[in-house]
Amino acid sequence: MKVDESAALILAIETSCDETSAAVIRGGKEILSNIVSSQIETHRLFGGVVPEIASRKHVEVITLIIEQALQEAGVQPRDLSAVAVTQGPGLVGALLVGIVSGMSLAMALNIPLIGTHHIAGHIYANALVNEIQYPCLALVVSGGHTELVLLEEEGVFRIIGRTRDDAVGEAYDKVARALHFPYPGGPHVDRTAAEAETAVQLPRSWLEPDSYDFSFSGLKSAVLSAINQSRMKNQPLDVPALARGFQESVIDVVTGKAMRAARQYGVRQLLLCGGVAANRGLRARLTELCEAERLPLLIPPHSLCTDNAAMIGAAAHLKWKQGQFDELDLKADPGLSLEAWSVKPVPAGGN
Ligand code: KG4
Ligand code: ZN
Repeated sequence: MKVDESAALILAIETSCDETSAAVIRGGKEILSNIVSSQIETHRLFGGVVPEIASRKHVEVITLIIEQALQEAGVQPRDLSAVAVTQGPGLVGALLVGIVSGMSLAMALNIPLIGTHHIAGHIYANALVNEIQYPCLALVVSGGHTELVLLEEEGVFRIIGRTRDDAVGEAYDKVARALHFPYPGGPHVDRTAAEAETAVQLPRSWLEPDSYDFSFSGLKSAVLSAINQSRMKNQPLDVPALARGFQESVIDVVTGKAMRAARQYGVRQLLLCGGVAANRGLRARLTELCEAERLPLLIPPHSLCTDNAAMIGAAAHLKWKQGQFDELDLKADPGLSLEAWSVKPVPAGGN
Protein backbone atom coordinates (compact mmCIF):
# COMPACT_ATOMS: atom_id res chain seq x y z
CA MET A 1 0.00 0.00 0.00
CA LYS A 2 1.36 3.44 -0.96
CA VAL A 3 1.14 6.05 1.82
CA ASP A 4 0.66 9.78 1.28
CA GLU A 5 2.95 12.36 2.90
CA SER A 6 0.85 13.07 5.98
CA ALA A 7 0.47 9.34 6.64
CA ALA A 8 4.17 8.51 6.26
CA LEU A 9 5.18 6.15 9.04
CA ILE A 10 8.81 6.65 10.02
CA LEU A 11 10.61 4.36 12.42
CA ALA A 12 13.33 6.50 14.04
CA ILE A 13 16.38 5.30 15.96
CA GLU A 14 18.61 7.46 18.19
CA THR A 15 21.84 6.16 19.76
CA SER A 16 24.21 9.15 19.57
CA CYS A 17 25.16 9.26 23.26
CA ASP A 18 23.77 7.57 26.37
CA GLU A 19 20.11 7.05 25.47
CA THR A 20 18.92 4.16 23.31
CA SER A 21 15.65 5.22 21.74
CA ALA A 22 13.22 4.15 19.02
CA ALA A 23 10.01 5.86 17.95
CA VAL A 24 7.29 5.64 15.33
CA ILE A 25 6.16 9.01 13.92
CA ARG A 26 3.23 9.59 11.57
CA GLY A 27 3.32 12.50 9.15
CA GLY A 28 6.32 14.09 10.90
CA LYS A 29 4.07 15.27 13.74
CA GLU A 30 2.22 12.51 15.50
CA ILE A 31 4.11 10.39 18.05
CA LEU A 32 2.74 6.83 17.95
CA SER A 33 5.50 5.62 20.30
CA ASN A 34 8.74 6.99 21.74
CA ILE A 35 10.68 4.47 23.84
CA VAL A 36 13.77 5.79 25.65
CA SER A 37 16.17 3.62 27.62
CA SER A 38 18.68 5.70 29.56
CA GLN A 39 22.15 4.51 30.54
CA ILE A 40 22.63 7.33 33.06
CA GLU A 41 22.77 5.00 36.08
CA THR A 42 25.69 3.10 34.51
CA HIS A 43 27.68 6.20 33.52
CA ARG A 44 27.04 7.90 36.88
CA LEU A 45 29.46 5.43 38.46
CA PHE A 46 32.21 6.98 36.29
CA GLY A 47 31.13 10.63 36.61
CA GLY A 48 30.44 10.96 32.87
CA VAL A 49 29.70 9.03 29.66
CA VAL A 50 32.23 6.28 28.88
CA PRO A 51 32.03 5.81 25.07
CA GLU A 52 32.89 2.09 24.94
CA ILE A 53 30.35 1.26 27.64
CA ALA A 54 27.73 3.39 25.84
CA SER A 55 28.19 1.37 22.62
CA ARG A 56 27.94 -1.96 24.44
CA LYS A 57 24.78 -0.91 26.26
CA HIS A 58 23.19 0.18 22.98
CA VAL A 59 23.97 -3.25 21.47
CA GLU A 60 22.34 -4.97 24.45
CA VAL A 61 18.99 -3.20 24.18
CA ILE A 62 18.53 -1.85 20.65
CA THR A 63 16.54 -4.79 19.25
CA LEU A 64 14.20 -4.83 22.21
CA ILE A 65 13.66 -1.06 22.07
CA ILE A 66 12.81 -1.20 18.35
CA GLU A 67 10.37 -4.07 18.95
CA GLN A 68 8.74 -2.14 21.80
CA ALA A 69 8.40 0.99 19.67
CA LEU A 70 6.64 -0.94 16.90
CA GLN A 71 4.44 -2.81 19.34
CA GLU A 72 3.36 0.28 21.27
CA ALA A 73 2.60 2.07 17.99
CA GLY A 74 0.55 -0.92 16.80
CA VAL A 75 2.54 -0.91 13.57
CA GLN A 76 3.83 -3.88 11.60
CA PRO A 77 7.30 -3.53 10.03
CA ARG A 78 5.70 -3.94 6.56
CA ASP A 79 3.61 -0.78 7.18
CA LEU A 80 6.68 1.43 7.61
CA SER A 81 7.46 4.07 4.97
CA ALA A 82 11.10 4.68 5.96
CA VAL A 83 13.70 4.13 8.67
CA ALA A 84 15.53 7.14 10.15
CA VAL A 85 18.75 6.91 12.14
CA THR A 86 20.92 9.52 13.84
CA GLN A 87 24.02 9.80 11.64
CA GLY A 88 25.83 12.41 13.77
CA PRO A 89 27.07 14.30 15.67
CA GLY A 90 27.71 11.92 18.57
CA LEU A 91 30.00 9.14 19.76
CA VAL A 92 31.06 7.13 16.72
CA GLY A 93 30.65 3.67 18.29
CA ALA A 94 27.26 4.59 19.72
CA LEU A 95 26.05 6.03 16.40
CA LEU A 96 27.17 2.89 14.58
CA VAL A 97 24.86 0.67 16.63
CA GLY A 98 21.79 2.64 15.56
CA ILE A 99 22.98 2.97 11.97
CA VAL A 100 23.62 -0.75 11.51
CA SER A 101 20.22 -1.61 13.05
CA GLY A 102 18.40 0.92 10.87
CA MET A 103 20.29 -0.09 7.75
CA SER A 104 19.47 -3.78 8.26
CA LEU A 105 15.78 -2.99 8.69
CA ALA A 106 15.69 -0.72 5.64
CA MET A 107 17.40 -3.42 3.60
CA ALA A 108 15.16 -6.25 4.81
CA LEU A 109 11.97 -4.23 4.32
CA ASN A 110 13.16 -2.61 1.09
CA ILE A 111 12.27 0.90 2.29
CA PRO A 112 14.28 4.17 2.29
CA LEU A 113 16.93 4.98 4.91
CA ILE A 114 17.26 8.53 6.19
CA GLY A 115 20.49 9.51 7.99
CA THR A 116 19.45 12.31 10.34
CA HIS A 117 21.26 15.18 12.08
CA HIS A 118 20.96 15.04 15.87
CA ILE A 119 20.65 18.83 16.29
CA ALA A 120 18.04 19.05 13.50
CA GLY A 121 16.21 16.52 15.69
CA HIS A 122 16.44 18.73 18.79
CA ILE A 123 15.13 21.70 16.77
CA TYR A 124 12.28 19.77 15.11
CA ALA A 125 11.18 18.28 18.47
CA ASN A 126 9.23 21.53 18.48
CA ALA A 127 7.28 20.43 15.39
CA LEU A 128 5.82 17.54 17.40
CA VAL A 129 3.93 19.97 19.64
CA ASN A 130 3.59 23.23 17.70
CA GLU A 131 3.28 24.68 14.22
CA ILE A 132 6.67 26.13 13.30
CA GLN A 133 6.57 29.44 11.44
CA TYR A 134 9.43 30.84 9.39
CA PRO A 135 11.75 32.66 9.69
CA CYS A 136 12.48 31.37 13.17
CA LEU A 137 15.48 31.20 15.43
CA ALA A 138 16.48 28.13 17.44
CA LEU A 139 18.51 28.40 20.62
CA VAL A 140 20.09 24.95 20.93
CA VAL A 141 21.42 24.21 24.40
CA SER A 142 22.50 20.63 25.02
CA GLY A 143 25.28 18.60 26.59
CA GLY A 144 27.33 18.70 23.40
CA HIS A 145 26.06 21.80 21.58
CA THR A 146 25.31 25.47 22.07
CA GLU A 147 24.17 27.15 18.90
CA LEU A 148 21.93 29.87 17.52
CA VAL A 149 20.39 28.54 14.31
CA LEU A 150 18.42 30.67 11.87
CA LEU A 151 15.78 28.89 9.78
CA GLU A 152 14.55 31.18 7.03
CA GLU A 153 12.54 28.30 5.64
CA GLU A 154 11.69 24.73 6.54
CA GLY A 155 14.68 22.40 6.79
CA VAL A 156 17.31 25.03 5.93
CA PHE A 157 19.68 25.63 8.84
CA ARG A 158 22.08 28.59 9.10
CA ILE A 159 24.30 28.67 12.18
CA ILE A 160 24.79 32.30 13.25
CA GLY A 161 26.50 31.56 16.58
CA ARG A 162 28.18 28.63 18.28
CA THR A 163 30.27 27.92 21.35
CA ARG A 164 34.01 28.38 21.01
CA ASP A 165 34.76 25.98 23.86
CA ASP A 166 32.38 24.17 26.23
CA ALA A 167 28.72 23.55 25.46
CA VAL A 168 26.31 24.92 28.08
CA GLY A 169 25.35 21.45 29.36
CA GLU A 170 29.00 20.47 29.51
CA ALA A 171 29.79 23.58 31.60
CA TYR A 172 26.85 22.73 33.89
CA ASP A 173 28.12 19.17 34.31
CA LYS A 174 31.72 20.25 35.01
CA VAL A 175 30.66 22.87 37.56
CA ALA A 176 28.31 20.34 39.15
CA ARG A 177 31.13 17.85 39.42
CA ALA A 178 33.35 20.41 41.18
CA LEU A 179 30.45 21.01 43.60
CA HIS A 180 30.20 17.22 44.19
CA PHE A 181 26.81 16.70 42.56
CA PRO A 182 26.20 13.38 40.76
CA TYR A 183 26.29 13.11 36.94
CA PRO A 184 24.55 14.62 35.03
CA GLY A 185 24.81 17.68 37.24
CA GLY A 186 22.77 20.26 35.27
CA PRO A 187 19.47 19.58 37.05
CA HIS A 188 21.20 19.69 40.47
CA VAL A 189 22.78 23.09 39.76
CA ASP A 190 19.40 24.34 38.52
CA ARG A 191 17.57 23.16 41.66
CA THR A 192 20.27 24.46 44.03
CA ALA A 193 20.36 27.86 42.27
CA ALA A 194 16.60 28.18 42.75
CA GLU A 195 17.04 27.71 46.52
CA ALA A 196 19.78 30.36 46.89
CA GLU A 197 19.11 33.65 48.63
CA THR A 198 22.12 35.43 47.16
CA ALA A 199 24.34 35.02 44.11
CA VAL A 200 28.13 35.12 43.82
CA GLN A 201 29.03 37.71 41.18
CA LEU A 202 30.68 35.96 38.22
CA PRO A 203 31.84 37.26 34.80
CA ARG A 204 29.66 37.37 31.65
CA SER A 205 31.39 36.33 28.46
CA TRP A 206 29.88 38.53 25.72
CA LEU A 207 32.86 38.22 23.29
CA GLU A 208 32.95 40.82 20.44
CA PRO A 209 29.98 43.23 20.52
CA ASP A 210 28.38 41.89 17.33
CA SER A 211 29.21 38.22 17.91
CA TYR A 212 26.57 35.55 18.44
CA ASP A 213 29.22 33.05 19.54
CA PHE A 214 29.47 31.76 23.09
CA SER A 215 32.28 30.87 25.49
CA PHE A 216 31.82 29.24 28.87
CA SER A 217 35.34 28.19 29.81
CA GLY A 218 36.14 31.50 31.59
CA LEU A 219 32.99 31.22 33.66
CA LYS A 220 33.78 27.62 34.53
CA SER A 221 37.30 28.66 35.64
CA ALA A 222 35.81 31.47 37.76
CA VAL A 223 33.64 28.91 39.59
CA LEU A 224 36.61 26.59 40.14
CA SER A 225 38.70 29.52 41.41
CA ALA A 226 35.95 30.52 43.91
CA ILE A 227 35.90 26.91 45.18
CA ASN A 228 39.71 26.83 45.53
CA GLN A 229 39.83 30.19 47.31
CA SER A 230 37.30 29.14 49.93
CA ARG A 231 39.30 25.95 50.45
CA MET A 232 42.61 27.82 50.82
CA LYS A 233 41.10 30.35 53.23
CA ASN A 234 39.39 27.53 55.07
CA GLN A 235 36.04 29.29 54.70
CA PRO A 236 32.74 27.46 54.18
CA LEU A 237 31.58 27.45 50.56
CA ASP A 238 28.13 28.89 49.84
CA VAL A 239 27.18 26.28 47.22
CA PRO A 240 23.69 27.65 46.44
CA ALA A 241 25.05 31.21 45.96
CA LEU A 242 27.76 29.88 43.64
CA ALA A 243 25.29 27.74 41.67
CA ARG A 244 23.01 30.77 41.31
CA GLY A 245 25.88 33.04 40.26
CA PHE A 246 26.88 30.52 37.57
CA GLN A 247 23.32 30.01 36.36
CA GLU A 248 22.64 33.78 36.22
CA SER A 249 25.74 34.36 34.11
CA VAL A 250 24.78 31.58 31.67
CA ILE A 251 21.18 32.76 31.42
CA ASP A 252 22.10 36.45 30.92
CA VAL A 253 24.40 35.61 28.03
CA VAL A 254 22.37 32.97 26.18
CA THR A 255 19.08 34.86 26.46
CA GLY A 256 20.76 38.22 25.72
CA LYS A 257 22.28 36.90 22.50
CA ALA A 258 19.15 35.02 21.44
CA MET A 259 16.93 38.08 21.88
CA ARG A 260 19.36 40.32 19.98
CA ALA A 261 19.52 37.83 17.11
CA ALA A 262 15.72 37.46 17.10
CA ARG A 263 15.42 41.24 16.67
CA GLN A 264 18.15 41.51 14.04
CA TYR A 265 16.67 38.77 11.85
CA GLY A 266 13.03 39.69 12.49
CA VAL A 267 12.01 36.13 13.30
CA ARG A 268 8.41 35.06 13.92
CA GLN A 269 9.23 32.53 16.64
CA LEU A 270 12.01 31.60 19.04
CA LEU A 271 12.54 27.86 19.58
CA LEU A 272 14.35 26.60 22.68
CA CYS A 273 15.68 23.05 22.51
CA GLY A 274 18.24 20.52 23.81
CA GLY A 275 18.68 19.00 27.26
CA VAL A 276 19.39 22.34 28.98
CA ALA A 277 16.00 23.61 27.78
CA ALA A 278 14.75 21.73 30.86
CA ASN A 279 16.45 24.39 33.02
CA ARG A 280 13.76 26.17 35.01
CA GLY A 281 15.69 29.43 35.35
CA LEU A 282 16.36 29.60 31.60
CA ARG A 283 12.76 28.81 30.67
CA ALA A 284 11.42 31.43 33.09
CA ARG A 285 13.75 34.21 31.88
CA LEU A 286 13.18 33.48 28.20
CA THR A 287 9.42 33.36 28.74
CA GLU A 288 9.55 36.80 30.40
CA LEU A 289 11.74 38.34 27.69
CA CYS A 290 9.64 36.92 24.84
CA GLU A 291 6.40 38.08 26.45
CA ALA A 292 7.83 41.59 26.78
CA GLU A 293 8.70 41.60 23.05
CA ARG A 294 5.55 39.70 22.00
CA LEU A 295 7.70 37.04 20.39
CA PRO A 296 6.13 33.55 20.43
CA LEU A 297 8.40 31.13 22.33
CA LEU A 298 8.27 27.39 21.63
CA ILE A 299 9.70 24.92 24.14
CA PRO A 300 9.09 21.17 23.84
CA PRO A 301 7.93 19.25 26.91
CA HIS A 302 10.75 17.87 29.05
CA SER A 303 10.58 14.36 27.55
CA LEU A 304 11.23 15.81 24.07
CA CYS A 305 14.05 18.15 25.23
CA THR A 306 16.44 15.37 26.24
CA ASP A 307 17.64 12.82 23.67
CA ASN A 308 14.83 10.76 22.13
CA ALA A 309 14.01 9.16 18.79
CA ALA A 310 10.72 11.01 18.22
CA MET A 311 12.66 14.18 17.45
CA ILE A 312 14.80 12.25 14.94
CA GLY A 313 11.61 11.06 13.21
CA ALA A 314 10.33 14.66 13.05
CA ALA A 315 13.56 15.90 11.43
CA ALA A 316 13.77 12.90 9.07
CA HIS A 317 10.29 13.77 7.78
CA LEU A 318 11.82 16.92 6.19
CA LYS A 319 13.98 14.67 4.01
CA TRP A 320 11.12 12.23 3.42
CA LYS A 321 9.03 15.03 1.92
CA GLN A 322 11.87 15.92 -0.47
CA GLY A 323 12.58 12.30 -1.37
CA GLN A 324 16.14 12.74 -0.08
CA PHE A 325 17.25 9.28 1.01
CA ASP A 326 20.59 7.67 1.86
CA GLU A 327 22.39 4.70 0.40
CA LEU A 328 22.62 1.52 2.42
CA ASP A 329 26.31 2.15 3.12
CA LEU A 330 25.62 5.16 5.38
CA LYS A 331 28.61 6.09 7.56
CA ALA A 332 28.45 7.43 11.12
CA ASP A 333 29.72 11.02 11.10
CA PRO A 334 30.64 12.37 14.56
CA GLY A 335 31.25 15.82 13.04
CA LEU A 336 28.25 15.95 10.68
CA SER A 337 27.51 19.56 9.64
CA LEU A 338 24.00 20.85 10.36
CA GLU A 339 24.12 23.37 7.51
CA ALA A 340 25.21 20.68 5.03
CA TRP A 341 22.33 18.46 6.20
CA SER A 342 19.78 21.13 5.10
CA VAL A 343 17.20 20.06 2.51
CA LYS A 344 18.69 22.63 0.10
CA PRO A 345 21.81 24.84 0.03
CA VAL A 346 21.97 27.45 2.78
CA PRO A 347 22.02 31.02 1.42
CA ALA A 348 25.25 32.86 2.22
CA GLY A 349 25.27 35.81 4.61
CA GLY A 350 24.81 36.49 8.28
CA ASN A 351 27.54 36.93 10.81
O1 KG4 B 1 20.38 17.19 24.79
P1 KG4 B 1 20.90 16.29 25.85
O2 KG4 B 1 19.96 15.27 26.44
O3 KG4 B 1 22.14 15.50 25.35
C1 KG4 B 1 22.99 15.97 24.36
O4 KG4 B 1 22.64 15.85 23.15
O5 KG4 B 1 24.04 16.53 24.72
O6 KG4 B 1 21.47 17.22 27.02
C2 KG4 B 1 22.02 16.73 28.21
C3 KG4 B 1 22.54 17.90 29.02
C4 KG4 B 1 23.41 17.48 30.22
O7 KG4 B 1 24.60 18.23 30.18
C5 KG4 B 1 22.55 17.88 31.42
O8 KG4 B 1 23.30 18.23 32.57
C6 KG4 B 1 21.80 19.07 30.88
O9 KG4 B 1 21.46 18.68 29.56
N1 KG4 B 1 20.58 19.36 31.65
C7 KG4 B 1 20.43 20.51 32.36
C8 KG4 B 1 19.15 20.41 32.99
N2 KG4 B 1 18.58 19.20 32.64
C9 KG4 B 1 19.48 18.59 31.80
N3 KG4 B 1 21.22 21.57 32.51
C10 KG4 B 1 20.78 22.58 33.28
N4 KG4 B 1 19.59 22.55 33.94
C11 KG4 B 1 18.76 21.50 33.82
N5 KG4 B 1 17.58 21.50 34.46
ZN1 ZN C 1 21.06 15.75 22.27
